[in-house]
Amino acid sequence: MFITFEGGEGSGKTTLIKRLAEALIERGYDIVQTREPGGSRIAEKIREVLLDKNNTELKPHTEALLFAASRAQHLDEVIIPNWDKIILCDRYIDSSYAYQGYARDLGYDYISKINAYALRYMPDLTFYIDIDPSIGMGRVNSKRGHKIDRLDSETFNFHERVREGYLKMKELDQKRFIVVDGNRTIDEIYSEVMNIILERL
Ligand code: TYD
Repeated sequence: MFITFEGGEGSGKTTLIKRLAEALIERGYDIVQTREPGGSRIAEKIREVLLDKNNTELKPHTEALLFAASRAQHLDEVIIPNWDKIILCDRYIDSSYAYQGYARDLGYDYISKINAYALRYMPDLTFYIDIDPSIGMGRVNSKRGHKIDRLDSETFNFHERVREGYLKMKELDQKRFIVVDGNRTIDEIYSEVMNIILERL
């Protein structure tokens, strides 16, 4: 089972995934926990280029292609070899649809085209943790030790567009793409998501 987690900045995905992984391991499931961009040595190098705040001249098409490149490497090294396990992946192709396709205006078709490989390996379930970008960015800015990266530093308007982009994904795939209300406690979010996973397993 391939499960992905999506959200804007500061949505609490990472904490949620960690808790889910621990609970599923305790129940005896074989879990692989990973993330994008990155998750393998070479993909982490691409991640550095993408998130480096000094790379202000990085162009939208290059950005989208690098995310797709990192995804392809990560698919071959991590996702496909573990296809028989439960894979919990922090971000996948929906991030590209929301951030590059929608917020950067490259369009849905362009993202589909350059991610043709990933489209052959779609998640069984995707949880989008939906929060108001002003709350999310507030969390990111106040998090101690968090280095603000190139995408965190985008305008408020950009982050609003990311959210709109995600909400459009729901219209396209209601069965896979589940919108979770992120304006609740982590315990509440965790219970909802865990129940859905256990139902589907
Ligand atoms: P990360 O620090 O992993 O963010 P978070 O903790 O919020 O998940 O940084 C990943 C950033 O890359 C995040 O801002 C979203 C962005 N991104 C894209 O724009 N497109 C993509 O395809 C992916 C996978 C991520």
